[in-house]
Amino acid sequence: MTMTATLSDTAPANVSPILSVREVGKKFGGFTALDGVTVDFAPGRLTSIIGPNGAGKSTFFNVLSGAFPPSTGNVLFEGRDITGLPQHAFARMGIAKSFQITNLFPHLSVLENVRVAAQATRTGLDLWRPRARLTELVDRAEALLVLVGLAHRRHQPAENLAHGEQRCLEIAVALACEPRLLLLDEPTAGMSPEEARQMMDLIVRLNAERSVILVEHRMKLVMGISDRILVLHQGRLLADGTPGDIKADPEVRRVYLGQSV
Ligand SMILES: Nc1ncnc2c1ncn2[C@@H]1O[C@H](COP(=O)(O)OP(=O)(O)OP(=O)(O)O)[C@@H](O)[C@H]1O
Ligand SMILES: [Mg+2]
Repeated sequence: MTMTATLSDTAPANVSPILSVREVGKKFGGFTALDGVTVDFAPGRLTSIIGPNGAGKSTFFNVLSGAFPPSTGNVLFEGRDITGLPQHAFARMGIAKSFQITNLFPHLSVLENVRVAAQATRTGLDLWRPRARLTELVDRAEALLVLVGLAHRRHQPAENLAHGEQRCLEIAVALACEPRLLLLDEPTAGMSPEEARQMMDLIVRLNAERSVILVEHRMKLVMGISDRILVLHQGRLLADGTPGDIKADPEVRRVYLGQSV
């Protein structure tokens, strides 16, 4: 008996999931935005969540990142039930999400934005050696700026950055808490095609060191970089597979009909 390529690619039998979502639902008033979604995310993967407008992607993202609890079901991170815990607990455990631009400090430099974020997550450091501590934080911030390609902009106020650069800075800020899982909701929103391509390259580099879950409306963008793609439609999981599986799925084609992919 042989296992199919799809099974071994998307659901390795011998690896514990980094994140498990069990029968998760979300209602807003009488409206069901998410309906009984169950998924295991294997560690180290780049998983993309796609779907047409209003499919429930951001709602799913907000449940995964702890922005709000699901109405039903459970979320487990590395086997621990984290359903309903406050957002800061998600961050402390190793789940980070890209922040909105408004969460940057516009008048602080690019470097200061990342340093402040690193400082906020390193309260346990030796307070008697402030100079050494500051040097370590600056070094870490510098390394993150190199990773996201903003080292040359380090002394600019954040407000001087182009839109695409600000999104990269948000990611560096999110990485300051050293997450094992990085969640990104439409990081290419409002970007030029060239900026979007660079963002996809960056996401691949980020995935080399940590698990990534990427929410993206445009199917074409994630096809080339994803290990696995989940398709949401009307709050339900419509398809789950490799980019090849998803591309060939007639149901996916049907729900995307008439929408830009
Ligand atoms: N806070 C809310 N209150 C009421 N309805 C909501 C709320 N948030 C989302 N919805 C509804 O839930 C559905 C799913 O929304 P969601 O934002 O998750 O979709 P999405 O897949 O992220 O869409 P898009 O591609 O436009 O970003 C939509 O019909 C939306 O109107
Ligand atoms: Mg959305």
